[in-house]
Amino acid sequence: MCYAIPGKVTSISDKTVFVDYFGEEKKAYNDFYDLSPGDYVYAQGGYVVQKILPVDAEEILSVWKESFFSLQETDLAISRLALSGSKADAGCLRILDKVTESLRYTNEDLLYLLGLENEECLGLLRKSGNFLRQKYMKNSCCVHGIIEISNYCSRGCFYCGISSYNGAVPRYSMSNDEIFAAASEAVLKYGFRSLVLQSGEDAGLDFDGMAEVVRKIREELGALIFVSFGEIGVDGLKKLYDAGSRGLLMRFESSNPMLYRRVCPGHTLEGRLEHIKQAYSMGYLIITGALIGIPGQSPQDILNDIYLAKDLNAEMFSFGPFIPHSSTPLASYPPPKEEDILKVIALLRIVNPRDARILVTTAFETLSSEARRNGLLSGANSVMLNVTPLQYRKLYSIYPGRAHEDEPIEFQVGEVVALLKSLGRAPSDLGAGH
Ligand code: 5AD
Repeated sequence: MCYAIPGKVTSISDKTVFVDYFGEEKKAYNDFYDLSPGDYVYAQGGYVVQKILPVDAEEILSVWKESFFSLQETDLAISRLALSGSKADAGCLRILDKVTESLRYTNEDLLYLLGLENEECLGLLRKSGNFLRQKYMKNSCCVHGIIEISNYCSRGCFYCGISSYNGAVPRYSMSNDEIFAAASEAVLKYGFRSLVLQSGEDAGLDFDGMAEVVRKIREELGALIFVSFGEIGVDGLKKLYDAGSRGLLMRFESSNPMLYRRVCPGHTLEGRLEHIKQAYSMGYLIITGALIGIPGQSPQDILNDIYLAKDLNAEMFSFGPFIPHSSTPLASYPPPKEEDILKVIALLRIVNPRDARILVTTAFETLSSEARRNGLLSGANSVMLNVTPLQYRKLYSIYPGRAHEDEPIEFQVGEVVALLKSLGRAPSDLGAGH
């Protein structure tokens, strides 16, 4: 984001650089630049994504210096947790005490939390998520941009509005020039340093052309690029990695293989997981997660989704609600409640307290106007803004009434920065330190 904090390289060991941020040292991986101690860089997701001129870095740092510590104080004050003295039931308090003190907990404990209905207990669960987020990850919040480059899809997933069977949605595919122009605007005008390029699973995707765009964005703009084009296979993944993309966004949708097969006919969970694992072993950072509220999903399925995302070495967790779309076979099923998603966010944080980036998804924001704020106060620390050109955004109709569908980027940026500031969060990414 525009307010990302430049770090100063203090030492270098092979491809690992150590970067100082106001006295705190973080590790970042350098794949792209010729660096020496004293240089200034931006890091995203643990990668150095840009080298910055010292004069520019020092100017940005002087602006940051004023707010950096006061934001941390605001966050600390908001995220305090007091379990003792609460009127919540003893069972709930005992479990929350364990999870916030890093003591061993069981699957049954988490099932208990997932089943909570009492308002007092739910409030404490959310606060516990926020407490753990602050304790281990401080106040930085990733703000990624997503460009939806095409809505062509060859799959027939039962929940998704751009599935191949939906003849009612006009199809579009952005040209490579349009993709680069959208990326340029996001990076140069609005300061994004992480971009997701997403499409349906388009059998006609031209990998060589896409690799060229990725290379151009990487070299000319300097951003961390996540690709999200569905199951593109090892060759596709490799081509895009070689071109400079370093992240994969792919949800496994459901950890329950039967449920997966039911809603994604003709496809297997096994194949999808294999794809994610191959990307990880190639060096991709992984953003993954599941759909919450798919008809037939049990509470244990949801916990298994959380465990599976962790097992897949997720760098960022993307768990969002199922939202019914009228042109799909699941049209008549209701979405989950806001509270259900907040529980999942808090549980994700409990299971991954130390290093998880947990996203407030656009689908969740579509479900509730308070989702972003409440999600960030339940353990989440990432948001993704839609930077797809406005004329295409409405056509990427995976579910109806998507939040921010009509909002210019400038408006979205202003809104998120104001919210983060009010919560004491810094729209920055200090690096994953892997
Ligand atoms: N509701 C919520 N999320 C959906 N997605 C697709 N259709 C829907 C829907 N109806 C999500 C899927 C997919 C991501 C790009 O969008 O989880 O992985």
